[in-house]
Amino acid sequence: MKKKILRVLREAGDHFVSGQSLCESLGVSRQAVWKNISQLKEAGYEIQSVSNKGYRLIQTPDRLYGPDIESRLSSGCCCKKIECHEQIDSTNTRAKQLAESGEPEGTLVVAEEQTAGKGRRGRRWSSENSVGIWMSLILRPPVKPVQASCITLIAALAVAKGIQNVCQIESYIKWPNDIVVNGKKICGILTEMSSELDYIHYAVVGIGINANTRQFPEEIQDKATSLYLESGKTVDRQGLIAAIMEAFTTCYQKYLQTGDLSLLQEEYNAMLVNRDREVRILYGMEEEADQSQIEQGIAHGIDENGALLVETGQGVKSIVSGEVSVRGIYGYV
Ligand code: BTN
Repeated sequence: MKKKILRVLREAGDHFVSGQSLCESLGVSRQAVWKNISQLKEAGYEIQSVSNKGYRLIQTPDRLYGPDIESRLSSGCCCKKIECHEQIDSTNTRAKQLAESGEPEGTLVVAEEQTAGKGRRGRRWSSENSVGIWMSLILRPPVKPVQASCITLIAALAVAKGIQNVCQIESYIKWPNDIVVNGKKICGILTEMSSELDYIHYAVVGIGINANTRQFPEEIQDKATSLYLESGKTVDRQGLIAAIMEAFTTCYQKYLQTGDLSLLQEEYNAMLVNRDREVRILYGMEEEADQSQIEQGIAHGIDENGALLVETGQGVKSIVSGEVSVRGIYGYV
């Protein structure tokens, strides 16, 4: 019911919504409306109530709240349910637990803070309280496990689109799945999967976005940035989560139509920061990379399977994500 109240109040904008019309559109008693509005106020929502006029939403707190995010999603959105945590070890770990116990596709786990956020290749992912978007979506795609690496690229595309829509910031994708703004990383994606040889039980797409981070430790200041630092504005995290879920839905549907990225390849390549640039391909862990593990070439974009096509001295190589990481010649991009 809170989801519906928030939706009706938000859609009314500056106008009051009468108690009567809330009761009618929700099919509940005045008492029930009043009780839920009180609970929303307790949760930090500033809702004005004026007798003979009704209710008006004045301000939404900068706290992640499941019913609020749900109230912003369309009925066709792939995200069907939200589990919201103040603090958790890792939203990916939680989403995997839920998936193991049969949770259907479309449940999204979000948290204000992660105490053991996970990055790719076993790295840690710093997930400070209240300033980021740390979320993991459960999927059960009816495709073969070999086609699953595309999911990460789809998520990257959805994040870049969401950022453009909500923050009006141009962001780019650093293949396969980092989002960068002005050459610095703003988002990382970690997809984990449980599968048999030819069947996916579930996939969990974990997305970490530096939304309102005010400052980064000195050692990563040249590599990491946040939407706040780039725009000077506090980002509406719930609005951004909803926009990303909507963008993901469109991309995911196109992917399921073909089982590959042929319907998304062009859009992805248009956002690719490495496109037509010289890149270094690092095999194995980047910290361990020696000269024999490094190749160089011009990146031309992805193919329909999401592999990066790189023109090297030995011809065009198709680089499969998961095996390598790609860097610019002089730095991160
Ligand atoms: C990377 O190394 O770039 C991937 C980072 C992925 C971080 C996100 S935050 C939400 C989800 N939960 C995790 O523990 N990790 C992912």
